[in-house]
Amino acid sequence: MAAYEGSFTSALLLLLLLLLSSFRPAPGRPLTGYPAVFNFGDSNSDTGGLVAGVAFPVGPPNGETYFHEPSGRFSDGRLIVDFLMDAMDLPFLSPYLDSVGGPSFKTGSNFATGGATILPANAASRNPFSFGIQVAQFSRFKARVLDLLATGNKNLQKYLPKEAYFQEGLYTFDVGQNDLYVAFFSKTEDQVIASIPTILSEFQNGIQRLYNAGARNFWIHNTGPLGCLARVIASNKNESDVDPLGCLASRNRAAVAFNTQLHQLCTTTTAAQLLPAGANLTYVDVYAVKLDLIANHSRYGFKEPLAACCGYGGPPLNFDSRVDCGVTKTVDGSTVTANPCDDTSEYVNWDGIHYTEAANRFVSQQVLSGNFSDPPPTVSFVAAADKSKLF
Ligand SMILES: *[C@@H]1O[C@H](CO)[C@@H](O)[C@H](O)[C@H]1NC(C)=O
Ligand SMILES: *[C@@H]1O[C@H](CO)[C@@H](O)[C@H](O)[C@H]1NC(C)=O
Ligand SMILES: *[C@@H]1O[C@H](CO)[C@@H](O)[C@H](O)[C@H]1NC(C)=O
Ligand SMILES: *[C@@H]1O[C@H](CO)[C@@H](O)[C@H](O)[C@H]1NC(C)=O
Repeated sequence: MAAYEGSFTSALLLLLLLLLSSFRPAPGRPLTGYPAVFNFGDSNSDTGGLVAGVAFPVGPPNGETYFHEPSGRFSDGRLIVDFLMDAMDLPFLSPYLDSVGGPSFKTGSNFATGGATILPANAASRNPFSFGIQVAQFSRFKARVLDLLATGNKNLQKYLPKEAYFQEGLYTFDVGQNDLYVAFFSKTEDQVIASIPTILSEFQNGIQRLYNAGARNFWIHNTGPLGCLARVIASNKNESDVDPLGCLASRNRAAVAFNTQLHQLCTTTTAAQLLPAGANLTYVDVYAVKLDLIANHSRYGFKEPLAACCGYGGPPLNFDSRVDCGVTKTVDGSTVTANPCDDTSEYVNWDGIHYTEAANRFVSQQVLSGNFSDPPPTVSFVAAADKSKLF
């Protein structure tokens, strides 16, 4: 027994040494020490907002890998925002829209909802909670919290952020994917690209409003490779639009154009004109991380870069827009079900749009390395103690 424990301890030590040697402190602001997080976005970071807000069904097998029941997230498990909260030693974010079950907002609130766009929702949108509405909800949230704190009610204080957290907290963003996705329904590629400045001026407006409301630390994810999502690929009618990876070149070009302009907005326009010295704004190239994962999937231990784990139709994409993940339906006269794959960790894509927990973990590790941040971090992103949760 003692010998076993001894070798176990040396194995742990070796592992720790390996971790320490492979993660040299990278040169911004570390992703630690924030007392709270306020998140804005779409399904990429929705922890239950759409389910609460419009009673959108996100049933089983969503959540099967980690929560063992549907958790309001479009994934088999955790999202990038969950891994980042873990790394910051903070609990998962409660959705602002969820009023049942006594959600705690002590360490932040999540305003993201699946399907959300930056531009205001229109009659065709299934989700009314666009970015501007999310920012308005934040203002309402903050005003209400300050009113309630002013009553001095100790019981309420357990569930609400302190006033100082609104300035000290981290404001995180992952939004824009749906603006591009929806735009392609009715526009040519050139028209979609021409609409990007309008989309981004709405985004900048929201950032400015948050700054005016006291936000000082911004953490902005760019948008992923839209053209590599099974639902998008499956809808393609132009064979010459398929790139060597099997993704739609037009969609990825639009995503890159969006990101180039977002990057510029984050590093020059907003930084210089909107945010007086002292505020911190970090742009994170999630696109590069996701495309690398798809292109080099086997090196990272994945077998399926594009196919949906939970879908119907079989290879190559295992996706049929008529049968959503978990749904049983009659298709061409037979009853079919979009079941999950046996091993979700082999798949990058969960349901044709969203990533698996395994893919979200990979992206989070890369984001936390600091290698994809601009400005680059000046000190190690994650405290040593937190790495155990991720690596
Ligand atoms: C910006 O980050 C630095 C640490 O890198 C921190 O000291 C400073 O307080 C932050 N600025 C604001 C306005 O929170
Ligand atoms: C088909 O895709 C190619 C490559 O992206 C593009 O140049 C071309 O304009 C597309 N054709 C149509 C009709 O959209
Ligand atoms: C795939 O890996 C190679 C080798 O590291 C790298 O040069 C390339 O940029 C990666 N592909 C993507 C799309 O990131
Ligand atoms: C960051 O990038 C450098 C240079 O490509 C690489 O050597 C290092 O391993 C990366 N760090 C992490 C934590 O991935």
